[in-house]
Amino acid sequence: MRSVRLREPPCHLFGALSLNTDVGANFGALIQIIFATPCALYLLQAFDFKSRREPQSRSMNPIKIDEAALVMRRAAPLPRYTSYPTANHFVPTVGPADYRKWLGALEDDAALSLYVHIPYCNDLCWYCACSTKATHRYEPVARYLETLQCEIASVAALLPRRHHVTHIHWGGGSPDILSAPDIARLGDTLRRNFQFDDAPEFAIEIDPRLMTEAKADVMVGIGINRISIGVQDFDPAVQVAIGRSQGYEVTKATVDMFRARDVASVNFDLVYGLPQQTMQSLSRTIEQVLELSPDRIAMFGYAHLPWKAPNQKLIDEKTLPGPIERFKMARQVTTQLEDADYRQLGLDHFARYDDSLATKPLHRNFQGYTTDRTNALIGLGASAIGKLPQGYMQNAVAAADYASRIDQGGLATVRGRALTPDDRLRAFVIERLMCDFEFSAAAVMRNFDDASSALLDEADAIVAEDGDGFVESTTTGFRLTSLGRPFVRNICARFDAYLKVAAGQHSLSV
Ligand SMILES: C[S@@+](CC[C@H](N)C(=O)[O-])C[C@H]1O[C@@H](n2cnc3c(N)ncnc32)[C@H](O)[C@@H]1O
Ligand code: SF4
Repeated sequence: MRSVRLREPPCHLFGALSLNTDVGANFGALIQIIFATPCALYLLQAFDFKSRREPQSRSMNPIKIDEAALVMRRAAPLPRYTSYPTANHFVPTVGPADYRKWLGALEDDAALSLYVHIPYCNDLCWYCACSTKATHRYEPVARYLETLQCEIASVAALLPRRHHVTHIHWGGGSPDILSAPDIARLGDTLRRNFQFDDAPEFAIEIDPRLMTEAKADVMVGIGINRISIGVQDFDPAVQVAIGRSQGYEVTKATVDMFRARDVASVNFDLVYGLPQQTMQSLSRTIEQVLELSPDRIAMFGYAHLPWKAPNQKLIDEKTLPGPIERFKMARQVTTQLEDADYRQLGLDHFARYDDSLATKPLHRNFQGYTTDRTNALIGLGASAIGKLPQGYMQNAVAAADYASRIDQGGLATVRGRALTPDDRLRAFVIERLMCDFEFSAAAVMRNFDDASSALLDEADAIVAEDGDGFVESTTTGFRLTSLGRPFVRNICARFDAYLKVAAGQHSLSV
């Protein structure tokens, strides 16, 4: 990229952990912070190695000792970078007035992406860290839907014109907790208030245990053409340990239901690092997944944060795999899926070779990876996060708070972040690294004239300081090596100005 200037010895921003790297020894305690999850929550993940089972136990895939050391040294507080700045840096000074102004300034030709959040499930899975509530009564769900429809109308009325909607995503929680007539009603409200493209990408997150043929009919009727099914793990012992009973046949029936209705795109959510999961059990789960041939697979690392998600206290921490076993699990799944013609996409995601995610340029948003290029994301519902060219905004998280704000003023924005030029530059670089494991120096210079030089100097310094062989300068820019790819979040963190500030404060307090 440019001349590499040697500076200080390797400095690992998050490497302030003094860990014995002898596998199976007493590793002490490590806290991992994950600021945004698949379900757009802020997760904290703690590992107490003393309480974890022996990392090498039941291993199918021995790990080299130096690699184990690398894992132990680099496992540290890291965002997942579904946004930059990450949601924990949103501030309460961004409110409804900003949102109104930002919506009103949207350019005429801006395309919209809609995210609609349904924060209800029948029961809470023990591992779950999503923004959701358990309910066996339909009344709170019906009431929430009324509020949501008011918000949809308020937001649409603030737009300068009926912008084209190219992407819609219903997430949760479990959007399929809605009754068939309410699914139709919500679909109709969105279509009346926004101008849908001819064939928008319309996705929904589904708990297969809630699905019926009638709901599938209505979903397809309102234009849903992509489904994302929560699977997690097929192993019965794991399902007992995570409080989620879901037989293979239930998942298969949902896949069949949608394929019979010509919904071609099916995603599975799986999780590694769950209690009672072993290399063998996970391998068997992947075999069963492959029998159902999903187009896309999200394989999330389990984020354990019982102090944030009290339902996780039901999980026996002694049965959780430790970081080295987790690393081996992730690697084993990658090998298994690549052997079955899936392509790995950035962090945690896989797609069949012919899927659009594998063939088109990738982008990152709160749902993970997408081909969606719109820079106007409208978040609707409790806790929903949106993004407009000026910045991010998030709605009140608690359903009651959300409802009272919508009742009073039509909007429920409680925090957000107005983007600075530096935020945009770093967001660009971090998104490219999370998607492509590299960025082009020419693209940085083209898009960010003034500030690009300082950023490229930072990249040079990161290469110079890299003692692990994770990154390299190329003739066109900066990239992660194959060894560095599993540690992509560590490298992104080096470009994260907010973490640098936080790290500095932390050091001072000691
Ligand atoms: C909204 S749910 C998916 C739809 C539906 N509620 C279900 O579970 O079937 C989103 C996904 O987030 C993932 N998830 C939830 N809690 C997690 C955690 N603590 N760590 C990692 N992934 C988690 C699960 O894979 C889950 O399927
Ligand atoms: S069904 Fe999905 S959103 Fe609901 S508790 Fe389980 S994982 Fe979380």
